[in-house]
Amino acid sequence: MKDISGKTAIVTGAASGIGLGIATALAEAGANVVMADIQKAAVEQAADALAGTNKRVMAVEIDVTQEQSVLDALAEAESNFGKLHIACNNAGVPMHGTGLVDVPPEDWAFVIGVNVWGIIHGIRHFVPAIRKHGEDGHIVNTASVAGFQNRRGTDQAPYSMSKYAALSLSEALEHELDGTNIGVSVLCPGPIATNIAHGARNRPAHMGGPQASASDEAVLAERLATQGLDPKQAGERVVAAIRENTFYAFVGAVPADVIQERHRRIEEALGSSWVSHY
Ligand SMILES: NC(=O)c1ccc[n+]([C@@H]2O[C@H](COP(=O)([O-])OP(=O)(O)OC[C@H]3O[C@@H](n4cnc5c(N)ncnc54)[C@H](O)[C@@H]3O)[C@@H](O)[C@H]2O)c1
Repeated sequence: MKDISGKTAIVTGAASGIGLGIATALAEAGANVVMADIQKAAVEQAADALAGTNKRVMAVEIDVTQEQSVLDALAEAESNFGKLHIACNNAGVPMHGTGLVDVPPEDWAFVIGVNVWGIIHGIRHFVPAIRKHGEDGHIVNTASVAGFQNRRGTDQAPYSMSKYAALSLSEALEHELDGTNIGVSVLCPGPIATNIAHGARNRPAHMGGPQASASDEAVLAERLATQGLDPKQAGERVVAAIRENTFYAFVGAVPADVIQERHRRIEEALGSSWVSHY
């Protein structure tokens, strides 16, 4: 999509961090932006601040884990701004610092609910909303460099697993939309200076409600404080990816050596005499 100006975009998780950076960059590129977040007061405040700089934005409450909430937010977006062109499925939460056997089922449900179901609901409802009017569109799903590797010693397997799922959903969506005028990008940030270390603050009521998570903070807070990019740069990465129709949209510090080593192991395994081709 060459020209973003005048198009309507919805961004989930837009009250904070990368989502706010995406909303800001899209609004600066001239889009009408629907800022959607589970934190109602925070997203209203963020939208007020952006609107104050003469941008066309609105806030809606959404819980991406719940299909009806996604449908309600979409209806509100369309009734205010008309046709939807761009959807950024960005809301996400961490699940770091606890070994696989010690993560309780309700924490698995939380991280999968937001990071995986959030994208599935977005695909199921935002894609048809874009397709129905026939104009150019674009979907951006936020994965992570954690969607390409499980870094040893970080105990972030549940998060990483959810981001591998985000990546796989994005690759499949790209295949399904091949040859149409709807593009797909998968945003793959390295460390970005956001509030994700405190992601359990946004835990939906039906999943146990807001919490503090010392294990997330122990792994993430320092990494983000020392290595984290300004989230606005992630937003600008998204705008460039939409304009240039870039699929793998990396931004920031990427553990390329770890990803390459993983790929080398896979290639080597494919050379085994047990493997045939199809
Ligand atoms: N910060 C990083 O270093 C980093 C790196 C790679 C990927 N990511 C991904 O970027 C995305 C944004 O995270 P962030 O770092 O900006 O964190 P953040 O905590 O600053 O922002 C996340 C936003 O998502 C919202 N949210 C959480 N659950 C929600 C739900 N159920 N429904 C609607 N909104 C919900 C929160 O209220 C919050 O405003 C996530 O998908 C995260 O996994 C972050």
